[in-house]
Amino acid sequence: MRVVLGVAGGIAAYKACSLLRLLAEAGHDVTVVPTAAALRFVGAPTWAALSGKPVSTDVWSDVHEVPHVRLGQEADLVVVAPATADLLARAATGQADDLLTNVLLTARCPVVMAPAMHTEMWDHPATQANVATLSERGVHVVPPASGRLTGKDTGPGRLPDPEELYAVCERELARSASASASVAPAGAAAPATPSADAARGGGDLTGRRVVVSAGGTREPLDPVRFLGNRSSGKQGHALAVAAAARGALVTLVTSAPTDVPGIDIVPVETALQMREAVLEAAARSDVVVMAAAVADFRPATYAPSKIKKTHDVQADGGEDDSAPTITLVRNPDILAELVATRGGASSPVIVGFAAETGDAEGSVLEHARAKLERKGCDVLVVNEVGEDRTFGADDNTVTILRRVSDEGIEVGPASKAAVSDAVWDVVAPLL
Ligand code: CTP
Repeated sequence: MRVVLGVAGGIAAYKACSLLRLLAEAGHDVTVVPTAAALRFVGAPTWAALSGKPVSTDVWSDVHEVPHVRLGQEADLVVVAPATADLLARAATGQADDLLTNVLLTARCPVVMAPAMHTEMWDHPATQANVATLSERGVHVVPPASGRLTGKDTGPGRLPDPEELYAVCERELARSASASASVAPAGAAAPATPSADAARGGGDLTGRRVVVSAGGTREPLDPVRFLGNRSSGKQGHALAVAAAARGALVTLVTSAPTDVPGIDIVPVETALQMREAVLEAAARSDVVVMAAAVADFRPATYAPSKIKKTHDVQADGGEDDSAPTITLVRNPDILAELVATRGGASSPVIVGFAAETGDAEGSVLEHARAKLERKGCDVLVVNEVGEDRTFGADDNTVTILRRVSDEGIEVGPASKAAVSDAVWDVVAPLL
């Protein structure tokens, strides 16, 4: 496949060398189009040597071959990594002042952009508006990873690892190969059909910011022990993957972190850490899904060294068989806090999960409907729990309740991926 690798002028340009290698080793025909600023970080000889092709940044070289039109027209994929704040701004406003922006205007194939910059630049409303514009036009924007930045600071803004970006590129190439021939131009117009839209990694969540929490929290007692639960985090991860496939920019706050290409993973352990990470990400999101099994209680005190048994010999000659009493305190209810602090038209849609059992007081659905009212969220995904229901399974059976309707939607038994799509089918129209 023909891939154009655009490289903008950021320190993360060096990581694009590894992405180029991965794409070339997979047999793709890669043309590198750096910006002039990118060449200050990695020189033209490096790109030429790694791609086996000459490299230029402007539209005045090899004019007889009309590269500013041909490269974009012939590409099967354009990926820009890193995409700086400046490149995003130029692309969003349709400028054509160098070869890369010309390629972006002429491309009729999936376009992937991987922004990388300092957190302040990424968070700036101008950058966010440009990202939203590009996403709405069908560009697949891979959210930056969180972590150490160029200076001493940390936060969202890192270019994801080349392997992750490579996986996103392969996914886009595979999608476009299986899509109908009439794919609308990325960055040019609204999608003509849902399948064309999906082919570009777009979809009904295109450009939406989604936060998903997943996994069971661990509440430490001492350096070796914790109170936890049996949640595997699989359903939350499936929700995150499904949202990304429908075009969302996804942050996954999880106690069971695994690398998921194109998704910003924030690893946490305790309920308090999860609360901080979720509230922080929720402030700039369109949807928050609390799929995590957050512990309602945590030990009141943490012993900095391992709690020991005592080996004292008692007066009767026996050993001391006493055991410590663990005092618990309540954890904050993150879902309730999200609901309580939202306000205004830009509030996120909030989705809760509920593991319920029926009892003498009422059925599973009666308890769940009461919980939906009590919690005040927009959607509640209800799991019936019982001895025959195993944690960590690959399938799930749920009922989706909405505030706007008395009717529940029953899903399953179905794969957690299918359940996730059913949840997004319900959430997308609420946005
Ligand atoms: N939740 C939360 N913070 C907590 C506990 C739960 O955000 N401290 C969220 C879960 O992620 C889930 C929802 O609340 O989305 C419902 O969780 P559940 O444990 O069923 O609710 P509880 O309020 O703990 O209800 P119960 O009285 O049944 O224990």
